[in-house]
Amino acid sequence: MSYVTDGNLTEVVMERWQDIPDPRLREVMQSLIKHLHGFVRDVELTQPEWFAAIQWLTRTGQLCDEKRQEFILTSDVLGVSMLVDSINHHLPPGATPSTVEGPFHVHDAPEIANGEMVTKDAPGVPCLVVGKVQTLDGKPIPGAMLDMWQTDGEGLYEAQREGIDIPWMRGIYHSQQDGSFIVRTVVPLAYTIPMDGTIGELMNKTNMSHMRPAHIHFAILANGFHPVTTHLFEKGDEWIAKDAVYGVKEELIVEFKKQPPGKAPNGEVFNEPWYLVEYDFVLDRMAKAAAA
Ligand SMILES: [Fe+2]
Repeated sequence: MSYVTDGNLTEVVMERWQDIPDPRLREVMQSLIKHLHGFVRDVELTQPEWFAAIQWLTRTGQLCDEKRQEFILTSDVLGVSMLVDSINHHLPPGATPSTVEGPFHVHDAPEIANGEMVTKDAPGVPCLVVGKVQTLDGKPIPGAMLDMWQTDGEGLYEAQREGIDIPWMRGIYHSQQDGSFIVRTVVPLAYTIPMDGTIGELMNKTNMSHMRPAHIHFAILANGFHPVTTHLFEKGDEWIAKDAVYGVKEELIVEFKKQPPGKAPNGEVFNEPWYLVEYDFVLDRMAKAAAA
């Protein structure tokens, strides 16, 4: 079947791309060709549309560097990032569900003592996240690492803040002997995904929201347990039902409870109203062989 006709092109291409020693690469390429050809046939792609797509992808690549990843953003707004996350994380009922990591996580965050402010002098309304890290049957997990990151009270992540040379709104807390933790931060703000690139161009041709509801990111690690990367979302946020990257799961929506001025659980005394978030993270134990 070496020569192509209008009817056999997909089969010819698939046959050629079968000659791959790595079985997984072969499987992926076979499926990719099948679905890509199916898509092109389905929409009867015109040649100007094909070229517009090539130019769009080229510009998307040109926007990427160490700080910006327009292709991850593309994956996010098409729901692919969440799909990959869900395929790879089958957690039992009751375990804290995972969601996308997003583009703003920075490794090697500073260690912050329990109850201490994550970034001194960061602008925003005071907020404490208080809870426990525990097993599915409610036993405390001491020494779990809670790597958190979020926007400051002006809606900016570290990568978006010009002219700062200290870690910004990110830190690593640890659960105490009884599994408890107190994260002292500020109330995060809802924000728009970057709209000045090729994704913004595409989103502007739709009526969809490009906002993400206010949230705090957490990546939780504990010896012998499946790690979980997740967010806590603010209940009642205007954008909660239309997150631009489809990250919101019902179990991750929490109330940010407004508190009167006074003493907070970390001993701090506030002269202004502050917010309390109560949430227990529940981790799934690894099978013994996997944990070893
Ligand atoms: Fe975020």
